[in-house]
Amino acid sequence: MNRVHVDLGENSYDIFIQPGLLQEIPSLTRSLSLQGSIFIISDTRVASIYGELVLKQFQKVGKAHLLTVPEGESSKSISMADSLYTQLLQLGANRKDTIIALGGGVIGDLAGFVAATFMRGIPFIQIPTTVLAQVDSSVGGKVGINHPMGKNLIGAFYQPRLVIIDPDVLHSLDERQVRAGLAEVIKYAFISDPVLFQTLETHLESIIRLEEKTLVNAVLEKCCQIKAEVVRQDEKESGLRAILNFGHTLGHALEAVTGYRTLYHGEAVAHGMIMALELSKTCGLSNQEVSRGQNLVRRLEVAPLPENLDPAAILEAMARDKKRLKNVQNWILLTSIGNAVITNNISPKQTKTVLTDLRG
Ligand SMILES: NC(=O)c1ccc[n+]([C@@H]2O[C@H](COP(=O)([O-])OP(=O)(O)OC[C@H]3O[C@@H](n4cnc5c(N)ncnc54)[C@H](O)[C@@H]3O)[C@@H](O)[C@H]2O)c1
Ligand SMILES: [Zn+2]
Repeated sequence: MNRVHVDLGENSYDIFIQPGLLQEIPSLTRSLSLQGSIFIISDTRVASIYGELVLKQFQKVGKAHLLTVPEGESSKSISMADSLYTQLLQLGANRKDTIIALGGGVIGDLAGFVAATFMRGIPFIQIPTTVLAQVDSSVGGKVGINHPMGKNLIGAFYQPRLVIIDPDVLHSLDERQVRAGLAEVIKYAFISDPVLFQTLETHLESIIRLEEKTLVNAVLEKCCQIKAEVVRQDEKESGLRAILNFGHTLGHALEAVTGYRTLYHGEAVAHGMIMALELSKTCGLSNQEVSRGQNLVRRLEVAPLPENLDPAAILEAMARDKKRLKNVQNWILLTSIGNAVITNNISPKQTKTVLTDLRG
C-alpha cells in the first residue's frame, strides 16, 4: 500500500492511498487505537453511494453512526455545524469518540471543523472522495466553514489522525468534477514538479478518464507528497504554504464575481493559472514555458469564463480579499515550470491588461 507521512511532530499522521481501501478500513485504523464510537459525517449524495459500506466497515470493530448533510457548499455553515453538534450530543458523543469525514472538500472542512470544536476537539479521520479533496483539502489540517461575509472565514488548523484515499471512489464522480479537481493536480506540477508536469502532458486525457489505476494512484500520491512537504515546512501558512495558492489570487476573485455558482473552485483556479502564467513572464518564465503551461491547463477543457466579465469587478474582488487579509497583494508566480515565487511586484495595471487579453 502507498503511504505518505505528514511529519508535524506530535500532530503527524499517515495518508494511505490505494484502490479498494474503503473495504479495508478496520486494518487501517487499528494502529490508531481508537476508543469510543465512530461518527461518520457525509453528504446525501456520497452517503447514498458509500455510506453503508463505510458504516459497516466501522461497525465490524465497534459502534458507528452515519450523519448526513445536504450536498453542496451551503452546508459549510454555522447552522449546519450547530445541527451536527446537536445530533452528536443527542447520540451521547463524548471526547473519546472519533469523527470521520466521508466526502469532498465541503464535508472535510465541515466535519473537520466540528471535530476541532466539539468538546474542544475530538479525533478525526479524512476519507476524501473527490479529486480535489484527495489531493488538496484532506491534507494539511485547514478546516472551516463559511460566513455570509466570505468563504472559509471561520475555522482552525486541526490535523486529522489519518487520511484514507481510495481512488476507486472517483469513478462515481461527475467528469466535470474530475476535470476541476485536476486543476489542483496541475498546480502542484507548476509549483514544484517538472516530472509530474511531463507525466500530465503525456497522459492527461487518460487520467481524466481514470483509465489506468496505477498511474492515477501515482499522481494522487505525488500530489499528497508535495502538499505534505509544504505543510511540514509551514503548517500555519506564515510563508511558503502560500505557494499552494498558485492560480488562486485570480481564481478566488473569479469565484467571487461569478457568485460562487457558475464555476467550480478548480475551474476558477484553471482560469487563474492561465492568467498567472501570463504574469509569470515578469519573473522570467519563458514564452515557450508559458505556452506549454497554458496548453496543459486548456486540455482540461473546463467551463469557460462568462463572456461579460468585467475586469474592473475582478480587480475590486481582489482588492476586497487583500483588505480582508490586511496584506499587500501577493502573487504566486513561476520562474520556471516547477519553481514558484511569492511576489508583490505586480501592479493593478498589469493585472488588468492580462485580464482584458484573456477574458472569454
Ligand atoms: N481545507 C482545505 O485546505 C481546502 C482546500 C481546497 C478546497 N477546500 C474546500 O473544498 C470545498 C470544495 O470541495 P469539492 O470540490 O470536493 O466539493 P464537494 O465536497 O461539494 O463535492 C462536490 C460534489 O461531488 C459529490 N461527490 C463527492 N464525492 C463523490 C463521489 N465519489 N461520487 C459521486 N459524487 C461525489 C458531492 O456530493 C458534491 O455534490 C470548498 O468548500 C473549498 O473551500 C478546502
Ligand atoms: Zn484550490
